[in-house]
Amino acid sequence: MLVTGNDILVPARAGKYGVGAFNTNNMEITQAIIHTAEKLRSPVIVQMSEGAIKYGGQDLANIVIDIATRATVPVALHLDHGSSYENALKAIKMGFTSVMIDASHHSFEENVRETRRVVEAAHAMGISVESELGRLGGIEEHVVVDEKDAFLTDPGEAVQFVEETGTDYLAIAIGTSHGAYKGKGRPYIDQARIERIGELVSIPLVAHGSSGVPAEIVGRFRDSGGEIGDAAGIADEDLRLACQHGIAKVNVDTDLRLAMTVGVREVLTKNPKEFDPRKVFGPAREVMAGIVEHKMGVLGSVGKA
Ligand code: G3H
Ligand code: 13P
Ligand code: NA
Ligand code: ZN
Repeated sequence: MLVTGNDILVPARAGKYGVGAFNTNNMEITQAIIHTAEKLRSPVIVQMSEGAIKYGGQDLANIVIDIATRATVPVALHLDHGSSYENALKAIKMGFTSVMIDASHHSFEENVRETRRVVEAAHAMGISVESELGRLGGIEEHVVVDEKDAFLTDPGEAVQFVEETGTDYLAIAIGTSHGAYKGKGRPYIDQARIERIGELVSIPLVAHGSSGVPAEIVGRFRDSGGEIGDAAGIADEDLRLACQHGIAKVNVDTDLRLAMTVGVREVLTKNPKEFDPRKVFGPAREVMAGIVEHKMGVLGSVGKA
């Protein structure tokens, strides 16, 4: 069933488990996400960025909404990194049940103002809202505290931000970054900061940049002719711990991008004569389903629907 973000994330926060919020850009990705959620009896969030809306528009939103509506588990359709009030409202008109307003690059006051505007409009229509405080970006473990404080989310500010905006869930900057290169070895994630914010703020917290960039997938990408550097993601154990301390929404895009491409590459390199799209994208869908299944196990959402 299609539900709001709050319907999924409030129980997750209370139950100390995480729910995957996976980015989609086409039918196969959407199927891998939602059908795996049904198989594992897990709630799930499917998200489209503004880039995904530009690429697939209402056609893609309708595919997600249709599969979600017929699904036997709760599914929300979320706008990822909405850049303005206008775009958040457009997404709600398109049928999204959750929207993010990302004004984190503005001043604290401007971020509050812009977020509150979206919250007021969205709540009037029964839609839940994610907002962000702090600057996303990889950070090394050895960086001094003062420098971390400069752009990671300040716990005191988080309390004030939540009170002043009425946001339903809050994305916090904890050292993670988007993409396949999150740091050397085991990329840093500020667990103490998550724990502190989790103690002070009772709403669900959101971790962006949560792909694991599994060595197995990176290896298969290389073996099938792909070129990739020193790729590394967030360790499973680190995500599991973060969900104990308040992280309830866990954003994953890069892992599905890698999985989809690995699936396509493997088919095409092994079978140069193949040109049936179903033979190309079917196996890719399976590789993506494997990623989704693994992540739901790590986050603890299996069996929660
Ligand atoms: O946060 C970024 C997501 O991975 C979406 O990326 O804007 O290229 O669709 P995109
Ligand atoms: P990854 O690049 O780690 O998959 O993060 C995706 C994300 O945060 C989308 O908002
Ligand atoms: Na988001
Ligand atoms: Zn993000």
